[in-house]
Amino acid sequence: MSSIAYMNIAIVKYWCKDKFTPYLIPLVPSISLLSTKLYTKTEIKESGKDLFYLNDILQDEKETNKVFTFVDKVVKNRNKKICINTYNNMPTAAGLASSSSGYMALSIELNKFFNLDLEDNMLCKIASIGSGSASRSLYPIALFDKNGEIEKLESNIQFSMIAVIVNANRKKISSRAAMQISKDTSKLLDVWIEKNTEYADIMKRALKENDFNKVGIIMEKSTNLMHEVMKSSTPSIDYFMPLSYEIIEFVKKLRLDGINIYYTMDAGANVKVLFEKKDEVKIKKIFNEKYEGKIIDVI
Ligand code: PMV
Repeated sequence: MSSIAYMNIAIVKYWCKDKFTPYLIPLVPSISLLSTKLYTKTEIKESGKDLFYLNDILQDEKETNKVFTFVDKVVKNRNKKICINTYNNMPTAAGLASSSSGYMALSIELNKFFNLDLEDNMLCKIASIGSGSASRSLYPIALFDKNGEIEKLESNIQFSMIAVIVNANRKKISSRAAMQISKDTSKLLDVWIEKNTEYADIMKRALKENDFNKVGIIMEKSTNLMHEVMKSSTPSIDYFMPLSYEIIEFVKKLRLDGINIYYTMDAGANVKVLFEKKDEVKIKKIFNEKYEGKIIDVI
């Protein structure tokens, strides 16, 4: 028995928690697209001792405790010790949101293994305890609203997305720690809450009206403002590397040349590029030539 969940990339970003009820209530709504390529596969077996393997490597005490703290929040009065085997088909913690697929795959697998009888809505809430973005990993397009509820959205837009890998190493500061710093210190927090709530409303309409350009414009606005919030925190949080800026400039230049593409970035230096399926061959060719060996298909 094993469970699979795909990672998601936000087109309206989530950054900062309000509280746990015990489920996560975010400060802002967010909207995501589910990857069709990058996933986590998780398998649980009964074991003499609680163990956690990631890509066949036994994890240290810190990582193991983190995962089992989550397990014990989901499964109360657990009567079995378990071994968790997790595989990611993507670089872990590279700003490619492996936590989103990771906590969703684990939630689905726990649900099966311990017969928890959780329905989809509850699975999303459970996953949000591990990672806010994980709550969005059940649906192709998901809205995680300010009440901590997940809504499935629809659109006829045929999305395609690649990631340009700038840095595949573990990130310097976890998103959890960084969000707390932003919440405690960023002067832009009120602007963030107000504007991103507005972006979510516009994005919902743009998806419904199949307006790809509006989706792209709002995605960039939400990304830019989120990174302003990070940078305006004390200490300043900056996930960009020189190559991240270069790729963004390249996206903007292509757009001026009439190619319909938009960028987004998460808590890492990698840049994701969004376009429509109909332009996929042309755009992938351009990026594979310019950033050879650094391109990963996301959608
Ligand atoms: O799910 P977390 O706690 O790792 O937060 C990730 C937040 C961003 O990836 C930066 C944005 C988002 O909405 O996915």
